[in-house]
Amino acid sequence: MGHSIIIRDQNGSRTARLEETHDIFGDGDLEVAVSHSSLNYKDAMALDGNPGVVRTTPLVPGIDAVGVSDGQLITVNGAGLGERRHGGYTPHLRVDSAVAVTVPERFTAAEAAAIGTAGYTAALSVDALRSQHVSPDSGEILVTGATGGVGSVALHLLHRLGYTTVALTGRREEHGDYLRGLGAADVVDRAEYAEPGKPLQRGRWAGVVDTLGSHTLVNALAQTQWGGAVTACGMAQGTDVSASVMPFILRGVRLIGINSVDAPLPLRQRAWDLLAAELDLDVLASMTEEITLDQVIDAGAELLAGKRLGRTVVKVQ
Ligand SMILES: NC(=O)c1ccc[n+]([C@@H]2O[C@H](COP(=O)([O-])OP(=O)(O)OC[C@H]3O[C@@H](n4cnc5c(N)ncnc54)[C@H](OP(=O)(O)O)[C@@H]3O)[C@@H](O)[C@H]2O)c1
Repeated sequence: MGHSIIIRDQNGSRTARLEETHDIFGDGDLEVAVSHSSLNYKDAMALDGNPGVVRTTPLVPGIDAVGVSDGQLITVNGAGLGERRHGGYTPHLRVDSAVAVTVPERFTAAEAAAIGTAGYTAALSVDALRSQHVSPDSGEILVTGATGGVGSVALHLLHRLGYTTVALTGRREEHGDYLRGLGAADVVDRAEYAEPGKPLQRGRWAGVVDTLGSHTLVNALAQTQWGGAVTACGMAQGTDVSASVMPFILRGVRLIGINSVDAPLPLRQRAWDLLAAELDLDVLASMTEEITLDQVIDAGAELLAGKRLGRTVVKVQ
């Protein structure tokens, strides 16, 4: 019936393999013929057997699933897929309609997967900044983990909306042109943010889209202007946040948590509407590579080693 990636417990460790499968995986009221998924940071952790992501075995990983159900192209991002229930690295999946978003007409299945959780999370982050009244006139926006999936889409969306962005990256020499191509006005070395800094620093940012956590998030908070907002969605540097209250009580800085996994349908819809309105499909294509299911385990290892760029679409069938 097809091939799927399955993570199984083997002698105490969790190992991912490509297997021939005949089942329809998962539960839910919608049966989906999955054509595409994608590779996100969390997928790479799952493929690596990380028990913080792989909550049950056997498990089909893949936190995104795009495919046709009842004649309609739908996508599910997160909602436990590829963590606590079977995900998108299989051609036949059941999902709950309560979390299924109809793919906006202007996107193909491959484009919806190129957006995936990373792009939808970038949209949630940008939407949160706008909800906090951070406007293009407010000042510069820092985007961390800039060459990654969330970072790349956030840079592009912000640029389209008229914001001035600054990209924080560990690969300035290698990918500086790529980041400037996504609209970054300046590219900063992430090493400058990677160590503990002063609790209050020169206020530069009107807003921050942070994907790294740890000292980078704390330094970004310390450099945010009066009344600015910082969104926190990721932990590529670390899960720790050893921060001072100073940015909050002396500058009224706001820290906004972003959770794509359990977001209710109206919030998902809002983020997808923003993507449908603003994304330039040529720019999306320029940040995307397509791979097949048999390549995804190696690609996951590359992503964890910080060697991939932008978004990776996984062609499932
Ligand atoms: N809260 C949510 O709902 C949600 C949703 C999606 C993603 N996330 C999280 O957001 C983060 C980014 O996800 P993604 O899919 O965009 O991942 P990604 O494509 O792998 O991008 C992560 C980027 O972070 C930087 N990076 C990697 N390792 C690092 C390290 N040790 N220290 C500092 N920087 C490092 C790299 O950028 P440079 O090379 O440019 O420095 C890399 O491209 C992950 O932590 C992910 O789990 C959370």
